Amino acid sequence: MATNEPVVVHEDEPQVYDEAETEEAEQVMDESRGPLEESGCTHTDESEEEMEDSVAEDMHRFEQSFKNITQRYRLINRIGEGTFSTVYKAEDLLYDQYENDWNLEEKENSWFSPQSKQRTCRRKPRFVAIKKIYVTSSPMRIFNELDLLHDLRNSPNVCPLITAFRCHDQVIAVLPYFQHRDFRDYFRDMTVSEMRSYFFSLFTAVQAVHEKKIIHRDIKPTNFLYSPTQRRGVLVDFGLAEREGTDWHACNCSYDEKERRHRYQTSHYASMKQQFREAGQAPPPPTYPKEDTRHSRRANRAGTRGFRAPEVLLKCTAQTVQIDVWSCGVILLTLLSRRFPFFHSADDIDAYIELCTIFGRRRMMEAAILHGQVLQTNIPTISESGHSWEKILLWCTNRNKKDGAGLTEEELEAVEFMKCCLELDPLRRITAEEALRHPFILGREGANGESSEAMQLE
Ligand SMILES: Nc1ncnc2c1ncn2[C@@H]1O[C@H](COP(=O)(O)OP(=O)(O)O)[C@@H](O)[C@H]1O
Ligand SMILES: [Mg+2]
Ligand SMILES: [Zn+2]
Repeated sequence: MATNEPVVVHEDEPQVYDEAETEEAEQVMDESRGPLEESGCTHTDESEEEMEDSVAEDMHRFEQSFKNITQRYRLINRIGEGTFSTVYKAEDLLYDQYENDWNLEEKENSWFSPQSKQRTCRRKPRFVAIKKIYVTSSPMRIFNELDLLHDLRNSPNVCPLITAFRCHDQVIAVLPYFQHRDFRDYFRDMTVSEMRSYFFSLFTAVQAVHEKKIIHRDIKPTNFLYSPTQRRGVLVDFGLAEREGTDWHACNCSYDEKERRHRYQTSHYASMKQQFREAGQAPPPPTYPKEDTRHSRRANRAGTRGFRAPEVLLKCTAQTVQIDVWSCGVILLTLLSRRFPFFHSADDIDAYIELCTIFGRRRMMEAAILHGQVLQTNIPTISESGHSWEKILLWCTNRNKKDGAGLTEEELEAVEFMKCCLELDPLRRITAEEALRHPFILGREGANGESSEAMQLE
């Protein structure tokens, strides 16, 4: 970290909060972000382009309440507004007074080319992203985010934390500014080869995070800042991340297959079905106890709708890092289908139904049983065995196999990889480490010999 010394501050201005927002932000166990909630608006050049009055006002207010911040940083623009923070682009005014291990560009330049090192000696502005975490976030949650970022400071493709400051109840995290493009600008026309690079970069980050037994919990395009020209991205936003095993309770999926089968066979549900089968009768429609005395099932569901793994939807109490791999699979599905957001559910039940429509009743029933849940549905659009990915992708991209416009070889290779990520059973789902060795990822350009970093300097 560049410094431990806090910024000298003056009194905060009183602020007004929306109570509903506070409540949502504090329900860590039950929170849900909508897929389009964040404005990950991205400015593609360094110019201080036109800014809305309200943004200028907001920045001014921030500078006033965190007064001496202006001695260290010059705010340039507001670049993101999420559920839990506002992010600003700023110039680091005291850059030359600190060691800047985080500056990979500088490190690489000095490593690869003495000439470019000379170039960087010239005074050029250094940009940072200042993440102003809403004061309504609990201190534990803020600490958690900074603590995990600190643990991940040397992880490839994870945006490192430079430093953090507190002024009364306002905490800011300072990160290197990463030039990237808004996902919505490029998801429609990314080639399969570009997807390879995207996922190589993303899985490099995810693997590093998982190696430290950390679950990100909120992998989605706005939290993976990608630069298509550099073919490189960084993972950000550890606001919902947690260490694997936090709040862990045994779930049906924690037992081995033999034990799981035994538990199922001795369950009330299975024995009731058995009784009716033996009597040669169809089981009656399901009923529910008027007063259910069973404990309600609580599990961490934090994340974003549409990117949640089936085990999260099923409230699995033994969730693992594998939930992140599912979310990566959803991003690939978005790219291949050219539909963003691909899933658009109102709640978890809706989200499960969306998956049932694709995977079919039989497989979703198995997925539910794996976590000790039962699926009952009479929705006519849910078929027994669902639809193939190929068919779905052709529908989404308005192509028809009969017209000879099937998926290309390359696309089929990407679909194979996507299927491994979108495996319903987290125990069988590909791990991030395995993903990096998958033929789809290995086939990326520059994988044999040339490193993408070296290419970028040319
Ligand atoms: N280091 C960074 N460089 C450039 N932009 C960033 C950086 N960090 C965050 N942002 C922008 O701010 C947005 C919100 O940041 P994030 O950490 O995801 O906060 P939140 O928890 O509010 O979602 C991101 O989607 C991105 O557009
Ligand atoms: Mg975010
Ligand atoms: Zn489970």
